[in-house]
Amino acid sequence: SPINGKDVRVWCDGCYDMVHFGHANSLRQAKALGDKVIVGIHTDAEITKHKGPPVFTEEERVKMVKGIKWVDEVVLGAPYVTTLEVLDQNNCDFCVHGDDITMTAEGVDTYHLVKSANRYKEVRRTAGVSTTDLVGRMLLLTRNHFRQGSAEYDIEKEAAKSPWTGCSQFLPTTQKIIQFSDGKSPNAGDKIVYVAGAFDLFHVGHLDFLEKASKLGDYLIVGLHTDPVVNSYKGSNYPIMNLHERVLSVLACKFVNEVVIGAPYCVTEELLEHFKIDVVCHGRTPIAMEDGKIDPYAVPKTKAIFELIDSGNEMTTERIVERIISHRLEY
Ligand code: CTP
Ligand code: C5P
Repeated sequence: SPINGKDVRVWCDGCYDMVHFGHANSLRQAKALGDKVIVGIHTDAEITKHKGPPVFTEEERVKMVKGIKWVDEVVLGAPYVTTLEVLDQNNCDFCVHGDDITMTAEGVDTYHLVKSANRYKEVRRTAGVSTTDLVGRMLLLTRNHFRQGSAEYDIEKEAAKSPWTGCSQFLPTTQKIIQFSDGKSPNAGDKIVYVAGAFDLFHVGHLDFLEKASKLGDYLIVGLHTDPVVNSYKGSNYPIMNLHERVLSVLACKFVNEVVIGAPYCVTEELLEHFKIDVVCHGRTPIAMEDGKIDPYAVPKTKAIFELIDSGNEMTTERIVERIISHRLEY
């Protein structure tokens, strides 16, 4: 809470390339140490200089971080070594980073200046999630079972905790879900919007879609399909992230009020009634028919409460996988 009526402003910085719920969890912990969270993001040029080009552009990285509900401001162009000047320019009291050591290309601790000035605090890194791990899962898709259908899953079984999500080491707990959720029920008279999907490797396309969906009402509920359901219509080794991981990624989004964990593929009368849903939407991506013939949105369409949304964004989970693979081949 504010000291002498003045907000405690917390500075966090990083690459935020392939934003995942580990990043979100560090920003959540940073928020708990102050009133406002200001995130400094390195430019593409700065990252390229220190560790090679990022997978996502600075515009995409900025958008993803702005979409996280604990973030108050985003500043593009943070220096790789955090300076006292950058904290002062942004009126930040101190800097917060996860408990991993980060170095410049020359091997200098990127936080040495703020550490010696006692303007540095540490939060615990989220175990079991990292860009390296997610990229590893995406590269698994290029192996022999890629695009070969469900019969091939057994190949990876010994190495895998889940047949669909490879090597997840993340341990989901109710505590984490409680920390990530806003805990608010809809108010009487709120217009309730429902969307459903895989929301695998939560990305800028999802973010733009959810922002538009949230504007159609007052309370946004996102239904997430289970791993076997997603696999049944996406095939191959999808989803890349398991249901628990997808839940946290979606809950971290500032446009989302509630998540249904393991939503049925078809929007039924019971579901509409249970959540008092006023409008159901879907983006411009193709809608797979259940069993090849049943439109999952048949019920809301009949009731004329279905709306198509144009997110205006071409990003898809498959596109991310392609980008990662070509990025890996180049660097
Ligand atoms: N972070 C975290 N838990 C993770 C991954 C990242 O708490 N599992 C934190 C980092 O400690 C840092 C912030 O997220 O405070 C952003 O740092 P960034 O440089 O973008 O993250 P990386 O450390 O590169 O994360 P990853 O390896 O997953 O890309
Ligand atoms: O593909 P997935 O199930 O994750 O998509 C969830 C929702 O986000 C769908 O309604 C989809 O149409 C929408 N979306 C979008 N624009 C994108 C990607 C997804 O509107 N670029």
